[in-house]
Amino acid sequence: MNTKGITLTRHILLEQRAHPSATGELSTLLAQIGLATKLITRAVNRAGLVDILGVTGAVNVHGEEVKRLDEYANQTFLNVFGHSGLVCTLISEEMEVPRHLPENCSQGKYTLFFDPLDGSSNIDVNGTIGTIFSIHHRLNGDAHGTKQEWLRSGSEQVAAGYVIYGPGTLLVYTAGKGVHGFTLDPSIGEFLLSHENIRIPARGKTYSINEGNYPVWQTPTRSLIDYLKEKDSGTGRPYSSRYVGALVADFHRTLLQGGIFLYPGDMKNPQGKLRLLYEAAPLAFVAEQAGGRAVTGTERIMDIRPTELHQRVPLLIGSPEDVALAEEFYTGRKKRDRERRKTSHRTD
Ligand code: AHG
Ligand code: MN
Ligand code: MN
Repeated sequence: MNTKGITLTRHILLEQRAHPSATGELSTLLAQIGLATKLITRAVNRAGLVDILGVTGAVNVHGEEVKRLDEYANQTFLNVFGHSGLVCTLISEEMEVPRHLPENCSQGKYTLFFDPLDGSSNIDVNGTIGTIFSIHHRLNGDAHGTKQEWLRSGSEQVAAGYVIYGPGTLLVYTAGKGVHGFTLDPSIGEFLLSHENIRIPARGKTYSINEGNYPVWQTPTRSLIDYLKEKDSGTGRPYSSRYVGALVADFHRTLLQGGIFLYPGDMKNPQGKLRLLYEAAPLAFVAEQAGGRAVTGTERIMDIRPTELHQRVPLLIGSPEDVALAEEFYTGRKKRDRERRKTSHRTD
């Protein structure tokens, strides 16, 4: 298909046509996410000029200081979806409790989970940041607005994706039929199809992890990263290290070039840092739709049934062969193989 000039809205409508039961509301919802992130792009691009950098002085539910742009991005989503009639409940990293919109629930079929601004530590240094979103069907009957509504496993997602605010603004989404990327053309204010049907390479050449946490890494993480650094021309090691410090940026590079991103649990935070519902699960959906994988080390991210709204999970995500290799270290298979080889060398 000639992808020239295909806008996000047109692409979603074409996709929706493939779902006879679709009523176009998902298309409208995704188009509204496009609108919200265009407004955030405008603020991000002028952040140095208008009074929107720095902190608000508040601390969020995770004990993290809230940046002005976190606040602005969150409020933008509330403004865009508040009276849209599309969404019955909004769940945000920046809001301790979900925002239930009963007036929307009669016709609003969806529950929207989002990290309004990901990579906040990069804001004040003009680094790459992003927005992550995850869309679920709302539950019928009076279950909406209750815990069952938002404690949903990743495999129930209807659509998910992210927007990366870098040299360009790029929106990447999946609705279960592949992964597609749209670049914002600021001269016309439209997201235009630029990366159709993204597929992640089976294996990459980079690993992405915060090496500053080495002192608290658990053994599998240390052994895996040490292994990736060992020279072995047969398997293409050593890998290069790349770490931006914004999940969306580190994931997007991994999606396009292959490799593995890891934010594992460690001795200080056994569940790691990233949140399941609006960081790990949506990116896991995108990764799997592009042929990649996303695990905790021992469990598929998309299978996890959350018990808490802002629950954290360890995240290993990327090329299928790189994630499979990592799993061998977390399930102990690699250690057993290496010990077996050592003993067989000794008896040879
Ligand atoms: P957020 O800005 O939404 O809180 O997310 C920050 C996350 C994620 O973007 C990134 O991968 C990770 O924090 C980086 O954490 P470290 O600074 O501990 O490496
Ligand atoms: Mn985040
Ligand atoms: Mn955030």
